[in-house]
Amino acid sequence: MARIAVVAGDGIGTEVVAQALKVIDVVLPGEVTATEYDLGAARYHRTGEVLPDSVLAELAEHDAILLGAVGDPTVPPGVLERGLLLKLRFAFDQYVNLRPSRLWPGTSSPLAHVKPGEIDFVVVREGTEGLYAGAGGTLHRDTPAEVATEESLNTRHGVERVIRDAFGRAQRRERRKVTLVHKTNVLTHAGSLWSRAFEAVKADFPDVETEYQHVDAAAMYLVTQPQRYDVVVTDNLFGDILTDIAAAVTGGIGLAASGCINPSREFPSMFEPVHGSAPDIAGKGLADPVAAVLSASLLLDHLGHADEARRVSEAVAAELASRTPGAPLRTAEVGDRLAAAVAA
Ligand code: NAD
Ligand code: IPM
Ligand code: MN
Repeated sequence: MARIAVVAGDGIGTEVVAQALKVIDVVLPGEVTATEYDLGAARYHRTGEVLPDSVLAELAEHDAILLGAVGDPTVPPGVLERGLLLKLRFAFDQYVNLRPSRLWPGTSSPLAHVKPGEIDFVVVREGTEGLYAGAGGTLHRDTPAEVATEESLNTRHGVERVIRDAFGRAQRRERRKVTLVHKTNVLTHAGSLWSRAFEAVKADFPDVETEYQHVDAAAMYLVTQPQRYDVVVTDNLFGDILTDIAAAVTGGIGLAASGCINPSREFPSMFEPVHGSAPDIAGKGLADPVAAVLSASLLLDHLGHADEARRVSEAVAAELASRTPGAPLRTAEVGDRLAAAVAA
C-alpha cells in the first residue's frame, strides 16, 4: 500500500489535485492511501501556521507527496512560497527538480515551425540551492539609501550531484546529450564552479554528448529551436524561468508536470504541476488539470508503478489529441474523462 500525502494548497491547486486523485484511484484501486494535509493560505489565515514541524514530520513518513500549488494574493509574497513549498523541497533534500517538456501529438505549439513529437527534453533544475537558498538582507529600508542583497549559494556537493543525475538520465535516453545552462560570462564564481563540476562529471560519461549555453541564449533557442534539447541541467532560478518558457512552447503551463526528487529516497519526493495557484481563474473550473495528472504519472513511476504511470500518460495523450481548439473543457470534466480512459 503506497502512502501519499496530498498538499492541494491554494487556488487552482485544490481543483487540479482533485482530478489527479480521481485518476490515481482508478489506476491503482485500493493500493493507495491518500492523506490530505490542510496547508496554505486558509490555514495561515486561520492559525498563523505555514508548515508546523509536527506536520513536516508526518509528511516525512509518506512514500511521496502530491502538491497542487501554493501562494495567494491575500498572503504577503514569499510567506507560503518560501515557508511551505521551498521548505518542503529543502527539508526533503529534493535536489533534482525534474521538468519534462514534450510537444504531445494533437497539441499545437505557438511556434509555427514545430510539429508534435519534435520537442522532447527534460530540464534537470537544481532544487535546493542557488538564489533560493542564499543569504540576503536589506539595509536602510524605505529610505533613498536602501540596499537589498540576495546571495546565490552553490556548493560543490550540490552542483556535482545534480549534474551527475542529469548525465545519468541522458545516458538512459536515446539522444544522450546534456546541455549545461548558466551565465559563466558574468557569474564568474558560481559559473566557474558549475563549469568545473560539469567537466569533472563528463569524464565519467564518455558516451554522452555535451554542450554549454549561456542562459540568455538558451532562452532564445528554447523558442527558436526547442528540438535541439535532450537533457538540460541548470541552477535553481534559471531552471524556474526556462521551464515556464518550455511549458509555453509545448502547449502551455496547464500541461507542464514536475517532480521534486530526492534520488537517495531518504525522504519522500514531491510531484507538482509547474504552474502556480492562478488566482485569475481560481474557483471557476477553468484550470487544465493535465499538468497535475501528468505529475501524478511521474509519482506513480517513482513509486515503481511504471505500467500504471504509462497508462495515465497514454490517457493524457489521447485526451489531448481529441481536444477541439477553442472549445475548452471544464476542470472536472477533463478529470472524469481521464479517469474513464484509464479505467477502460
Ligand atoms: P501561475 O502559474 O499561477 O499563473 C500564470 C498564468 O497561467 C495565469 O494566467 C493562469 O491563469 C495560467 N494558468 C496557470 N495554471 C493553469 C492551468 N492549470 N490551466 C490554465 N491556465 C493556467 O503563476 P503566477 O500568476 O505567477 O502566480 C500565482 C501564484 O502562484 C503566486 O502566489 C505564486 O507565488 C504562486 N506559484 C506557485 C507555484 C507552485 O506552487 N509550485 C508555482 C508558480 C507560482
Ligand atoms: C515553481 C514556482 C516556485 C519556484 C515558487 C512558487 C517558489 O515558481 O515551482 O516553478 O520558483 O520554484
Ligand atoms: Mn516557477
